[in-house]
Amino acid sequence: MDKEKQHDEADDSWVIKYFDNVGNSGDMINLGIGEPDFDMFEPLKDEAERVIRRGLNKYTMTAGIVELREAIAETYSRRWGVDIGPDNVVVTPGASSALFMSLASIIRPGDWVVIPTPSFPSFKALTQILGGRVVEVGPLPESDFQLDVGGVRSTLGEKRAAVILNSPTNPTGSVIDERAFSEVVDLCRKSGAYLISDEVYERFVYGVEYTSAAKYWGEYDRIVIVNSFSKTLAMTGWRLGYMIVPKHLKARVIKLQAYINACPPSVAQYVALYALRSSEVQKMIDEKVSEYWRRRDTLHKALNAHGVSTHLPKGGIYLFPRIPLPIDSETFCNRLAKEARVITIPGKVFGKGGEGHFRITLSASPEKLLEAAEKIAAFVERTRPK
Ligand SMILES: Cc1ncc(COP(=O)(O)O)c(C=O)c1O
Repeated sequence: MDKEKQHDEADDSWVIKYFDNVGNSGDMINLGIGEPDFDMFEPLKDEAERVIRRGLNKYTMTAGIVELREAIAETYSRRWGVDIGPDNVVVTPGASSALFMSLASIIRPGDWVVIPTPSFPSFKALTQILGGRVVEVGPLPESDFQLDVGGVRSTLGEKRAAVILNSPTNPTGSVIDERAFSEVVDLCRKSGAYLISDEVYERFVYGVEYTSAAKYWGEYDRIVIVNSFSKTLAMTGWRLGYMIVPKHLKARVIKLQAYINACPPSVAQYVALYALRSSEVQKMIDEKVSEYWRRRDTLHKALNAHGVSTHLPKGGIYLFPRIPLPIDSETFCNRLAKEARVITIPGKVFGKGGEGHFRITLSASPEKLLEAAEKIAAFVERTRPK
């Protein structure tokens, strides 16, 4: 495929459309964009002010400040009982950039990337932009979007370069259990594929056990972990994420970072460091997660009571209901926005298995979510063929 075609294929104009409309939805209930509705925590704003006044406004080391890399490495190592060091960590401008640099450092044009779907659209778009070939592995039928390990097994061969897992998953809220995770690690080991694990929603887990790829860090040396401060600290606009990479990949990643970003944003790094060290901020995050848990329950119950069938996600910040009308997801979401004044995202943008669903972000008060559920139900009732 020629280069221009690759880029065109990867053109998801919806991304631009939705980002251009952030904060611009007037009287509509906007449950489209994937970010927390709460503001950045006050202690973090105070810290940002102090950092700016201390004059820490300049370039930092390419990989990010040592203290933050140490804190990230320590957090992961302690939790998962492994030996991740600051030299394994590269701090990046958001997980978006970390995903790009992961793929750019791993795949060459023509390489295959296995993506369980429905999935965050960047996985597919970035693979295509880099000239890789996407292999979508659909969800297991009637499984509430559990990972199709058999599908991964049947697609992994010698040519495949990487598998991207995302748990909790955007948009389905699935949490990949330990057994499935370790099976995929095994499959990667057998075929030599890299495992890229996107863990940006790791804190948003509701009463089930969570597994990180870090658990397998000591067993396989082709694991790349991508994470972000965007969602947990509600600082999506500050652009801060990171990647944890095996040492043999580090030079390539650093080269990419040096020429693309020079370094991650300085003030945001000090703010994130403060957050990792502060038990007060960690408690605030836990409270927000509990709030999202309650919202998940509220909206799940309301939608199902109104006949809009939706499975109960085990994590993440989204619900992914079935569309109860004989129309495609794009038409449904466009009409829902226009006629019911509720913004959501069509399932088709999340790849194979996404069509027939729509994504709702849980980023509104329970009252607003209930109002949205009523509006969605009324719209469905009005539109249902008689
Ligand atoms: C699964 C997933 N990965 C990565 C990102 C990007 O996060 P960031 O704001 O850190 O670039 C998002 C944002 O929605 C996401 O849902």
